[in-house]
Amino acid sequence: VDRIFSGIQPTGTPHLGNYLGAIQNWVKLQEESSSVLYSIMDMHSLTMPKEPAVLRQNILDTTAAILACGIDPKKCFLFRQSLVPEHAELAWILGCLTNVPRLLRLPQWKMKSASQNNEGTVGLLTYPVLQAADILLYKSTHVPVGEDQVLHLELAQDIAQRFNKKYGEFFPMPKAILSTTKKIKSLRDPAVKMSKSDPQKLAAVNVADSPEEIVLKFRKAVTDFTSEVTYDPASRPGVSNLVSIHAAVTGLSITEVLHQSAGLDTARYKMVVAESVIQKFAPIRNEIKKLQEDKSHLIKVLEDGAEKAKELAAPIYQEIRQLVGFQ
Ligand code: TYM
Repeated sequence: VDRIFSGIQPTGTPHLGNYLGAIQNWVKLQEESSSVLYSIMDMHSLTMPKEPAVLRQNILDTTAAILACGIDPKKCFLFRQSLVPEHAELAWILGCLTNVPRLLRLPQWKMKSASQNNEGTVGLLTYPVLQAADILLYKSTHVPVGEDQVLHLELAQDIAQRFNKKYGEFFPMPKAILSTTKKIKSLRDPAVKMSKSDPQKLAAVNVADSPEEIVLKFRKAVTDFTSEVTYDPASRPGVSNLVSIHAAVTGLSITEVLHQSAGLDTARYKMVVAESVIQKFAPIRNEIKKLQEDKSHLIKVLEDGAEKAKELAAPIYQEIRQLVGFQ
């Protein structure tokens, strides 16, 4: 049987990349599959420095946003990672099957360990092992993520294979599910992905941004010196990113949005895209505000979800304990 698993780091409100690359797929998959888990990855979040009060608030804000985007706790288990300590326990076992050079080669380590606010901690290096544990703890078969997580998923597959070779066939090989918009680019630099940790304030559009903020960010979006609107990601990454976003939020095909926008120059086109994004996220933004008012509800959702996740995880982890010789 299929089991869907995915997660998001609680770094405040998700952005367009999170939404179009992952969350939109999450919403679809909760309708299609009977066993679906989505997790707020608070343990992963500690890999970059966080004030405790900020982390606490971010967990609630991310949860409100996920619910507002259409995730329904009746159709999936939505839970906070740290409430299911088996994630960390399994990560230890899997870490003992993972070699360090394999982790040193991953681009996220190379980028983030070189950044100013992390000195290259053990947590940052072994973060993908914890991610493998998240997935394998539930014997998950499918993982809806954006393109930037594909290498982490390949590592999870490698680790699962090593485990199966040593202890006998146990874990299914988890497969990535990618959306058509698997990589949304930064609005300030179309060479890099849109990212929550981007210091440039105008690089990412959050799903809770006001219409004014959305207009400003798209007006300032970096394109090129050609004024026509075309779709050619290799040679015109900036404007092509806008076309991808436009198509994704309207549900139209690339050809259809190009047809609609024929004759517009990029400056005017940016406002068309901004308007389509405003339309798409207006109801979500209102819903986020409503949900944020009821903290205890959000906390309860995450706790109830964790209880159910634990029920799934416990017997699997019990078997793992047997297999490795803890019992
Ligand atoms: P995170 O929190 O960075 O991102 C959450 C999801 O959003 C996708 N995403 C994007 N998709 C398209 N374009 C972008 N610019 C963009 N930016 C982010 C991500 O690919 C992801 O699907 N390590 C993970 C969280 C995690 C996880 C897991 C995911 C921890 N354990 C187990 C799946 C399974 C992360 O940091 O995602």
